[in-house]
Amino acid sequence: MPQPEGEAPPRHGGNVHQLARRLNRHPRRILDFSASLVPFGPPRSLRRVLCRALNDHVAPYPDPAYQALREATAQAHGLPDPGWVLPGNGAAELFTWAARDAQSLINLLPAPGFADYQRALATWGAVGRSLPLRLHWGDGPQSWVEALAEPRVLHSLDPQRTALWITNPHNPTGQLWRRDSLEPLLHAHGLVVVDEAFLPLVPDGEAHSLVPLAPRFGNLVVIRSLTKLFAMAGLRLGYAVAAPERLERWSRWRDPWPVNGLAVQAGLAVVADQVWQQRVWRWLAREGPWLTQHLNRRCPSLRVHPGAANYRLLSWGYSLTPLQQSLAQKGILVRDCRSFAGLDDHWLRIAVGCRRHNRRLAAAMAAGLRTLGRQPPATGARA
Ligand SMILES: Cc1ncc(COP(=O)(O)O)c(C=O)c1O
Repeated sequence: MPQPEGEAPPRHGGNVHQLARRLNRHPRRILDFSASLVPFGPPRSLRRVLCRALNDHVAPYPDPAYQALREATAQAHGLPDPGWVLPGNGAAELFTWAARDAQSLINLLPAPGFADYQRALATWGAVGRSLPLRLHWGDGPQSWVEALAEPRVLHSLDPQRTALWITNPHNPTGQLWRRDSLEPLLHAHGLVVVDEAFLPLVPDGEAHSLVPLAPRFGNLVVIRSLTKLFAMAGLRLGYAVAAPERLERWSRWRDPWPVNGLAVQAGLAVVADQVWQQRVWRWLAREGPWLTQHLNRRCPSLRVHPGAANYRLLSWGYSLTPLQQSLAQKGILVRDCRSFAGLDDHWLRIAVGCRRHNRRLAAAMAAGLRTLGRQPPATGARA
């Protein structure tokens, strides 16, 4: 554990099933800090909608045009009409179509970054080029270009022949990119794909969304996920915001009915739910800093990097694989970072969970580090 020797490190978080099989436990008894989902979801209203939908939306095919969901989503974002939105089977499905549009361009991907863009590009035989990020950053919204370790690479290429893949906030670092640092890129680059999967969870994050700019820039694709905010990763739902001609083209390429009938009903129920979103903002504004402070106190040898999203990147002067293994033995899953280009076994990513689970994680980490002999005795009791 975390994976048998010789196996590649996981490219995604959230594989509780694998660990549950190894420990011979029910997956519900695994504490999953490797996938970053709102820990108190899905909303009760969503559960009720899904129960009702079992009667009417399992047997029939969904509307192949997804008209109602497109209308509700366009309205929630103040977009001119439903043609600017395309629902997808999670954000991940939509990366595949963005990659098809990008296949003839030079694709530039900040590293370390989310591995799924490379998967999407590889589907079409394209390979992304890494744009290394500096591995030190501060708190608060930041400039995307200034975060690049070698911004010259960006300037050495014809921008019209390049596609930028931007994650806001960035995964795995949690950096929130300022909208005014992204907007100039839209004037120059052939295609700009902005993955805002975690942005709706970030307090004040919407101020940095590029969704409002979509009607002005035909080269902009914004991809959103509903799976994190509403804790419905198993249901799969995301959407793209882009020019209607582009989205029509994508619709022709993909399988019919990629979004199932239950996911459509779920989307209709939650897409404009601001009360839930505000609850999530309050939780993250409270719990994110608490987790950071608590880890700093309980595990002073560990570095907890600042982040705006509902996850934190951790680093250490030694390999974190033994710690990861000892956590896994206790049924606690954290995100192995070796599959992120530019990171190695000195890094881990953890989700922000609920207070009780965050305490458990911090206690298990402190105990694990003490066992490894790299940690002073615990200084703090409960905070
Ligand atoms: C940055 C980022 N974007 C998108 C996704 C995938 O979202 P979805 O579940 O909607 O496919 C993930 C999943 O971990 C992610 O980390």
